Amino acid sequence: MISLGIVTISDRASTGVYEDKSGPAIRDVYTRWLATPWQEAYRLVPDEQPAIEAALRELADDVRCPLIVTTGGTGPAPRDVTPEATVAVCDRILPGFGEQMRAVSMQTVPTAILSRQIAGSRGASLIINLPGKPVAIEECLRAVWAAVPYCVELLG
Ligand code: MTE
Repeated sequence: MISLGIVTISDRASTGVYEDKSGPAIRDVYTRWLATPWQEAYRLVPDEQPAIEAALRELADDVRCPLIVTTGGTGPAPRDVTPEATVAVCDRILPGFGEQMRAVSMQTVPTAILSRQIAGSRGASLIINLPGKPVAIEECLRAVWAAVPYCVELLG
């Protein structure tokens, strides 16, 4: 059975200040949209680049997730370092994913321009960044979902 990565990046959720709602929103999308059996590989980490990189490396190299979706840490605030961590672990960047997710989101949310969300590949894994807001999860994934299976096939 394939394992699919869900990585929530949030100082406050990782210290229990509030409940992670975005990770479960990714799980909900996987559950509704995937026909193939899958199991979850979920990690909750603070906005620390080494911790984010370690989670991404583990899910790509050890758990061998074909798809890893992250949520949070994509904005312009000083502690937002998810795109930097993603770039650091990826072999190659796939710029179209970020461009498309921002373009679709900006049709309804002007502040979507603030997200630096990107996607890239590490080995056979596709890594996609999403913003931290639960409402952004389905909107962003819907914008790129049609390309995900083919991308995973090409990487594998
Ligand atoms: N994209 C969508 N679809 N919906 C949203 O509500 N919020 C924006 C943006 N992208 C948003 C969105 C806001 S307000 C910010 S600050 C950035 O994502 C970065 O969010 P993050 O730092 O939680 O990743």
